[in-house]
Amino acid sequence: MRLTILGGGGFRVPLVYRALLADRGEGRITEVVLHDLDPARTAVIAQVLAEQAAAYPDAPAVTVTPDLDEALTGADFVFSAIRVGGLEGRAADERASLEEGVLGQETVGAGGIAYGLRTVPVAVDIARRVLAVAPGAWVINFTNPAGLVTEAMSRHLGDRVIGICDSPIGMGRRVAAAMGVDPASAWFDYAGLNHLGWLRAVRVGGHDVLPGLLEDDAALSSFEEGRLFGGEWLRAIGAVPNEYLHYYYFNRDAVTALRTAPRSRGALVLDQQRDFYARTPDSPGSALEAWETTRMARERTYMAENREAAGAGERESCDLESGGYENVALALMRAIAQDERTTLILNVRNRGALPGLDADAVVEVPCLVDANGARPVTADPLPDHALGLVISVKAVERGILEAATTGSRPAALRALATHPLVDSVTVARRLLERYETDFPQLGYLRGKADR
Ligand code: G6P
Ligand code: MN
Repeated sequence: MRLTILGGGGFRVPLVYRALLADRGEGRITEVVLHDLDPARTAVIAQVLAEQAAAYPDAPAVTVTPDLDEALTGADFVFSAIRVGGLEGRAADERASLEEGVLGQETVGAGGIAYGLRTVPVAVDIARRVLAVAPGAWVINFTNPAGLVTEAMSRHLGDRVIGICDSPIGMGRRVAAAMGVDPASAWFDYAGLNHLGWLRAVRVGGHDVLPGLLEDDAALSSFEEGRLFGGEWLRAIGAVPNEYLHYYYFNRDAVTALRTAPRSRGALVLDQQRDFYARTPDSPGSALEAWETTRMARERTYMAENREAAGAGERESCDLESGGYENVALALMRAIAQDERTTLILNVRNRGALPGLDADAVVEVPCLVDANGARPVTADPLPDHALGLVISVKAVERGILEAATTGSRPAALRALATHPLVDSVTVARRLLERYETDFPQLGYLRGKADR
């Protein structure tokens, strides 16, 4: 079984490889192909993987190639985990928006739109190459904004592309722990879009146990989302929102905290990782240890401004351990490759599962997964306040898709100006101009770059 990782020099690749090493099952991945445009970063990651593999005589073989077609040929699974414009691009997206007084964030608001406009054309090219040279492969999309990018790729690959995110599974684990429930025995009724979903019920033994949690302030204060949103607000909406909804529900607080921080998240992560990626084969010490130290620093500071604005304190040590990102990917691959039916919260085409959205809209809902891929499970309708937000944000995503596929600048402006967290067309207009100046990749909006 061959797994090709696009964005093979990415910082989270060792998490995926660690999960592959731990997989002792039949039909496991035996070959990993790393594809990346940056050979230096890939070499550092390959060094970490080599150290990880040292203790395993049957570790998956790792090869590296900068050639996309070569990387895709023969792949059973393709992970797409690219970052168009790099962390520098993320930092620029975030800074520009925050300087305009609106949310600057990797995937949410204006920053997420800029990132989407840069990424969709590249993701579509990848989808086309997969169709040409590896039409039987399953594509697992990690690339953010994950819902949008999965939808762009699904227009070419249909249901052979599946988007994943670690936040729903992480929330499920935290909520279950707060209630003393075994997550394996519970049904998590979670629905929405990527980074815009709500846990509406947790069914155990035929009963919804979530209302009991929402009434219990002590239990709510024991986990991240409970502390971020507070009992009063959770009771008002009768659900636990994805942590990214903090940017919507507490927008002013989050923007204030982010604007007063010394640097944006992208700039901070870039700083945190600089020494690690500057390593060479001659650098002293272990690459794996350097990676782990850097990873912990990054995890500890995740959403620090939101936690500060909410007075939520430090992250729990169990949340620093990860286990989300790589485990969703591995569980998904195993279910498909071994026909081991399981349920995972994934980003797939709606096909009628979530009322109020059309069949081709990519949504984030529980799915049944087996050798036939991922099939969404019918979900109860979202309450109006949630559906309204979901429809607004999906319309924004459709504007980005239109801009990226036709080169329409008005569609890009419309997407920016109608996002619920961008409060003025004037701001949208200035931001679009600035993003076009910062990123030559957006030249297509002025008919200047090929798409
Ligand atoms: C979570 C989200 C990802 C996102 C990441 C950002 O894992 O699910 O979609 O990319 O956080 O983390 P970072 O450390 O880059 O801010
Ligand atoms: Mn995510």
